[in-house]
Amino acid sequence: MAHRRRSHPNLYSYPPLPILLLAAAAIFLLCASPSSSAKSETEILLKFKESLENAAELSSWNPSQPPCEGERHNWEGVMCEDGKVRGLNLNGMGLKGTLDVESLVELPDLRVFAVIDNNFEGSLPDFNKMGAVKHVYLSHNKFSGEIPSNGFQGMSSLKKLHLNNNGFVGAIPTSLATLSKLIELMLENNKFDGSLPNFKQERFTMVNFSNNLLVGEIPPALSKLNASSFHGNAGLCGAPLKPCDVHPKLSTGTKAVVGMALAAALVAILLVIIILAKRKPVSAAEEGAATAQVAAAQRKAPQDEMDKIEKGSTASSSTAARSTAPSSAPPAETRRAEQSVKLSFLIEDREKFGLPDLLKASAEILGNGIFGATYKAALSTGPVMVVKRFKHMNIVGKEDFHEHMRRLGRLSNQNLLPVVAFYYRKEEKLLVSDFVDNCSLAFHLHGKNRSGSSSLDWPKRLKVVKGVAKGIAYLYTELPSLTAPHGHLKSTNVLLNSSHEPLLNDYGLLPVVNLEHAQAHMIAYKAPEFRQGGRITKKTDVWSLGILILEILTGKFPEKFAQQSKGSEGDLASWVESAIGDGEGAAEEVFDKEIKNGCPEEMMKLLKIGMSCCEVDVEKRWDIKQAVKSIEEVREK
Ligand SMILES: *[C@@H]1O[C@H](CO)[C@@H](O)[C@H](O)[C@H]1NC(C)=O
Repeated sequence: MAHRRRSHPNLYSYPPLPILLLAAAAIFLLCASPSSSAKSETEILLKFKESLENAAELSSWNPSQPPCEGERHNWEGVMCEDGKVRGLNLNGMGLKGTLDVESLVELPDLRVFAVIDNNFEGSLPDFNKMGAVKHVYLSHNKFSGEIPSNGFQGMSSLKKLHLNNNGFVGAIPTSLATLSKLIELMLENNKFDGSLPNFKQERFTMVNFSNNLLVGEIPPALSKLNASSFHGNAGLCGAPLKPCDVHPKLSTGTKAVVGMALAAALVAILLVIIILAKRKPVSAAEEGAATAQVAAAQRKAPQDEMDKIEKGSTASSSTAARSTAPSSAPPAETRRAEQSVKLSFLIEDREKFGLPDLLKASAEILGNGIFGATYKAALSTGPVMVVKRFKHMNIVGKEDFHEHMRRLGRLSNQNLLPVVAFYYRKEEKLLVSDFVDNCSLAFHLHGKNRSGSSSLDWPKRLKVVKGVAKGIAYLYTELPSLTAPHGHLKSTNVLLNSSHEPLLNDYGLLPVVNLEHAQAHMIAYKAPEFRQGGRITKKTDVWSLGILILEILTGKFPEKFAQQSKGSEGDLASWVESAIGDGEGAAEEVFDKEIKNGCPEEMMKLLKIGMSCCEVDVEKRWDIKQAVKSIEEVREK
C-alpha cells in the first residue's frame, strides 16, 4: 500500500495552486514587457562608448538627439536604416580601449561593425555573442594572441570578416570553416600558423591568407582562388600553388600518372593504418600491420556485440567487426584473406581483395565529381572495380559510418548498383563498386556521338524511366528514416548496363555527407522547397525523378537551365511548362529529336507525369507511390 502511494503521489505533494498561478503571472510579466528592462539605442551606444579611449571624434554621441532618424544619422559613425542602428563605422578614429561586445549584443539590428585602422590591442573580443552580425572589419589594429577554435561558432549570418594586418597568432579557428554564408575572409599579414581548416565554402569572393606562417595542403574548395591569396606562407602547397610532394598532380591524364596518384593515396592510407597499428601493439602483430588493426578493432568490440554479429543480427553498431567476422564461421583461408585487407566488405559472396590489390591494379581516373575523384581499377584476378574517394564525409564518427554503410550493404535491387566494400579513414572514405561498362544515362543522352548507335529510342527511354522509378521506390521502402532516400538522383548517377537496365548510384549518402557540402552540391538541395523554404521533404526525391523524366524526354541538360537562371523559375520543368503552354503543336517541339520509334500519346503521358512530379507546391506534388503507379501505366505503343 505504502509502495503504491509513493508511485502515485496525490495532489497535495505539489505546491498549492495559488502559488503556481502567481509564479506563472510573474513569468508572464517578465517576458511580456521588454520595454521596462530593454535599454534604448542611445543608452546602449553611450555605454559602449564608455569603454573606448581617445574617443574625441565621437563628441556627437550625446543624448540630446537620437542616434538615428529614419535613414539619417545624428551621431558620427552610426549607420542608420528605418530609424534603427544598422551599423557602426568607426574607421580611422584613433580609438583605443575595450570593445564592449556585451553592449553591442543589445543592439538587435546591428549588422555591420567596422573599426579599421585604429589602435585596439589585446585578444579578439567575443564577437561570437553577436549571432546576427554580417560584416566585421577589424583590419589594421594591434589585436594579438590566439583566437579559440570556436571563436566564430554560431555566427551563421557572418558574410565578411576582415582581420588582416593585426598580430594574431596560433591556428586559424576551425569554426570559420562552418560558416556557410562567409564570402570574404581577409587574414593576411598576421602570424597565424598551422594548417588551413578544411574550408568547404565554395562561394568565397575575396580571401587572403598571405604573409602568415601557414603550412600544409590548401583545401580543395580554395584551390580556384588566386595564388596571391596564399603568398608569403613558405609551408603551403597544393593548387593554386605548387603541388604537395606526396600527391602527384592528376591533371596530365595519362594512365601511368593517375595510377601513381591512386597509389600515392593508398600508400598514405596504408601508412596511417601502420601508424595506428603500432600505437596499440597486439598479439597478432606478426601477421602484418593491417591484420593487427583489424584484431584491435575486434578486441574492442564488446563480447555481446560480437555475439549479435555471429548470430547475424542487423542491430550491431560495432566497428569493422561485421566484415571481418561474418555470420557463419568462414573457412580459415577466407578469414585470412579478409584479414589481410583493410576494406570492409558489404557483400559476403565476393572474392575479397584489399587496398594492396587495388594498389597493384592498373588504375585510370574516370572523373572528378562533387565529392572527389573516381578511379577504375582492374584487379589482376579479373574483376574491374570503381573506387570513389569521398572527402566531405566527416560529420559522422566511425561507428555511425560503418552502421550506415551496413544499411546500404543490405540493399539489394536490380536497379541499384551495390556498394561492394568501403574504407573508412577520418579524413576520407573510399567506396568500392563494380564497374559498369555501358556508361551513364547522361552520356547516352548528351554524349558527343549520341546520334550514333548509342542514342536511346523511345522503348529504351521508357525502360530507363521505369527502372529508375522502381529503384527509387525500393529506396523509399528500405530507408524509411531518410527524408530523401536517394538524395542525389541525376542522369550522371544512373548507369546503364548492357541491356539498358538502369542502375542507381550514389544513393543514401545524405546522412554521411557534410551538410554544407550537401546543400551546395547535391541534387536534393536544388529542389524548389529547399531554395524557397530551406528544407527538403519526403517528396524531394520525387521532384528529382520528375526532372530526370523531363531530361530523358527533352534531351536537355537540367543543370544548364539551373545555371542560366538562379531563381526557381529557371528549371527544366518551367521551360517544359511554358513550351507546352503554347498549345498542342508546340508540345511536340519539346521532345528530343533523337527519339526514334516514339509513340506521341504515350510520350505526352510520361511528360505530364514528369511535370506532376516537378510540381513546385509540395502539398500538390505526387508522392512516390502515385508517381510509380502512373509510370507503370505508360506503354511503349
Ligand atoms: C593578399 O594580400 C597580399 C598582401 O597584402 C597582397 O599582396 C595580395 O595581392 C593579396 N591578394 C588578394 C587576392 O587579395
